[in-house]
Amino acid sequence: MTLSTPTLRTHIARVPRISLAHLPTPLEFLPRFSQAVSPNGPRIWIKRDDCTGLLFGGNKARHNEFLIADALAKGADLVVWGAGVQSNNCRQTAAACAKVGLDIHLVLGRGKPATAPDVVQGNLLLDHIVGASIEIVEESIGLALDQKIAEVAERFRARGRKVYLWDRPVVLPLAAVSYALCMAEIVEQSTALGFEPAAVYVSSSGSTGAGVALGAKALGVPYPVKSIAPMIWPWDSRKELSATANQAAELIGIETRLIPDDIQFIGEYLGPGYGQPSDAGIEAMTLLARTEGLLVEHIYTAKALSGLIDHVRAGQFQADQDVVFIHTGGTPAIFAEAEMLAARIPRRVL
Ligand SMILES: Cc1ncc(COP(=O)(O)O)c(C=O)c1O
Repeated sequence: MTLSTPTLRTHIARVPRISLAHLPTPLEFLPRFSQAVSPNGPRIWIKRDDCTGLLFGGNKARHNEFLIADALAKGADLVVWGAGVQSNNCRQTAAACAKVGLDIHLVLGRGKPATAPDVVQGNLLLDHIVGASIEIVEESIGLALDQKIAEVAERFRARGRKVYLWDRPVVLPLAAVSYALCMAEIVEQSTALGFEPAAVYVSSSGSTGAGVALGAKALGVPYPVKSIAPMIWPWDSRKELSATANQAAELIGIETRLIPDDIQFIGEYLGPGYGQPSDAGIEAMTLLARTEGLLVEHIYTAKALSGLIDHVRAGQFQADQDVVFIHTGGTPAIFAEAEMLAARIPRRVL
């Protein structure tokens, strides 16, 4: 059964939620970028989830409306969270905790032994400013780090703290609910603007893409959602994303179910690997910045945008079509790698 956006919103309203993000985020047309990507290509639009507010914004402000509500509902007095040293997730979650008055301890995986003091820049600097307690460990992002985070949580529990933990089975479906809502916004805004997208692009290997795909299927939209992977997990991501979407559907009490074939998960724009810039991503970053004055960073959003650019240039869309790119934020990360980026960004000399 296809749902209307108000009906989907009513279902989502059953799940505890706090207000953190500036919503709806704008959906903006990119005239000069569209032209620069391809003069005969589609109109390209950007869904400004980099403008969700809360310490430089990004997709986790939406996620945290549900996750922090869950933490508060469960009576937590401490959030134990973790990811990479330059995690956008941890920065935004630390900001959300500051806003509601929850303590947060971050377990940040460096992925290697320390050879020099960790540079306090970008997201890590913001984590400190916003008052997170921080522990940097050798584990890499993924299952080893998840295990470490669980151990740290036990340490706090033994000290009597009521911990809300970065625990994938709890976190991912709730986060996905928030992106079903983002899809509802896209449907409402594009309708009001007088177009129906030919495709929606997003940078995701997890809950964000799962949520957008769930929203799309629940609302019966006829166009695809393309999740461009910033990382490849050691599991089948189409299965994982559809399972996350289905758990989210159960949470909000709708009958929509996804199968792996409902997920378009595209791994070919990863470049040299997670966290490493790709040439096409650097081109996407400079092209968007120089035509629209907007920033995508090199780890997530620039790579996803490079996928969109490649599809447009390969002729997958017509000039009378519209394509939407969801900007999931993450921009503070560029300052942690200023030297590397400065060496790769082509200079303009007039
Ligand atoms: C800027 C940015 N975009 C996209 C993502 C992907 O989100 P998800 O883990 O929900 O796939 C992240 C995750 O950290 C991110 O920081």
